[in-house]
Amino acid sequence: ELPEPFQVPLPVPRVARPVRSAGGVDYYELVQKAARHEILPGVRTEVWGYEGRFPGTTLVGRSGREMRVKVRNTLPVPTSTHLHGGVQAPSSDGHPTDLVLPRGFPDPRRRGGGSAHAGHGGGAMTVEPDEWTVSRGSKEYVYPLDQPAATLWYHDHRMDFSAPQVWRGLAGMFLVHDDEEDALALPEGERDVPLMICDRAFEEDGSFRYPSLDRSLTGRAGVEEAYMEGVMGDVVLVNGAPWPELEVSAERYRFRVLNASNARRYRLTLDPGPREGASFTQVGSDNGLLGTPRTHSAIPIAPAERFDVVVDFGAFPVGSTVRLANTLGEGGTRDVMRFRVTRRASGGGGAPAVPRRLAKVTRLRAGQAVAERQFDFRLKQVGDSGTKMWTVNGKPYDASGSLASPRLGTVERWRFTSDFHHPVHLHLAHFQVLARSGGAPRRVDAGWKDTVDVRPYEVVDVLARFSGHRGRYMFHCHNLEHEDMAMMANFQVV
Ligand code: C2O
Ligand code: CU
Repeated sequence: ELPEPFQVPLPVPRVARPVRSAGGVDYYELVQKAARHEILPGVRTEVWGYEGRFPGTTLVGRSGREMRVKVRNTLPVPTSTHLHGGVQAPSSDGHPTDLVLPRGFPDPRRRGGGSAHAGHGGGAMTVEPDEWTVSRGSKEYVYPLDQPAATLWYHDHRMDFSAPQVWRGLAGMFLVHDDEEDALALPEGERDVPLMICDRAFEEDGSFRYPSLDRSLTGRAGVEEAYMEGVMGDVVLVNGAPWPELEVSAERYRFRVLNASNARRYRLTLDPGPREGASFTQVGSDNGLLGTPRTHSAIPIAPAERFDVVVDFGAFPVGSTVRLANTLGEGGTRDVMRFRVTRRASGGGGAPAVPRRLAKVTRLRAGQAVAERQFDFRLKQVGDSGTKMWTVNGKPYDASGSLASPRLGTVERWRFTSDFHHPVHLHLAHFQVLARSGGAPRRVDAGWKDTVDVRPYEVVDVLARFSGHRGRYMFHCHNLEHEDMAMMANFQVV
């Protein structure tokens, strides 16, 4: 029995506090652990979360101020924590082969192989023992945060097992603030609300339902063949609660919308929409504020994308309710959450209108690109067994290989082609969408991004800037099942 929608209040994840600050660095500690929570009424769900929470505690940093996060792994499986959208050195990037092993867990460097990728046939390739980097028990990740104010997130990235491990709860929000943002007087405090949206399925007993071939997540990787395209659930969670409701006053709110789903795409609308004007005023994209706000009546959002938007509830009568709906959903997944306008604006009428100018955003030009590369994202038969795998340029992930060597500080034009919906994500490099199938980008493509939804048979051109650090990074499809089924590749910044 699924619960009625809009019965529980929207939880807001608590903000992590530093354990200490010294020398201009803030130190945090997050423990990855199992915990049981009542997500659906009357039953308990075992969650694997940062601090035992789902979502994990929100990390809040300041542009230009270094943060160090020590992640301690008390789960029964290895983990790797990636700060998605963060600009950090390769050793702190949470590469899939850079594991934090729980105490007592066998070291993959000594098992002669360690990881067998599962297409649905399984075992199409392995990671060589010397490809693994291993920390035992915990690892300190260094985040310089030499990047502008933005809505980032962190999540597990363990080789072959990111999808089931994120599904169990290993994800949290990460906000960066800066002076430029402070000067804009956007809604803040209680009226700056993260909305981590993801779908999940549940067993009768309340446990998460996920079609792993091996539910212990210590043996064979992969999902049952029927889930080749990705795993979706019939319950929509926002900040870990099913179809919650948020009581709002009749004024402006800022929502950091993240699609943390494994495979589900949404097209978000307000129902009813405001009588005049657009539902959403977008102020930021994946990696920062826009140059000027953009209004939208609907927001299409693929896995891992973020939309930083302002909604003005002053456009709705006190006492009314407004549904955040998903026009791509069916049945229960047509609803996401609901707002209830319970009171007039707080003293002074709340935050002022969104300013006409936001941040200074340098627009990249095609002429700046010093190289052009093309990457094809496709389901392919691989090897003699004819196993079907999700590939980049015809090949499943090769941990020791690299498909590109951009130079530090340059801009390149990358073209993505695909056979399906593939949200393509680059680590390290932020990009701007230049064209879709030769034409103009969509209105919702504006600004700095790290993930772009490449639709079936579409050609998407982006201008990517490789700055900050040299070394090995990766790009991949952020449909997490595709990612686990080898739709990833390394690049090397030189
Ligand atoms: Cu959000 Cu490589 O991932
Ligand atoms: Cu994909």
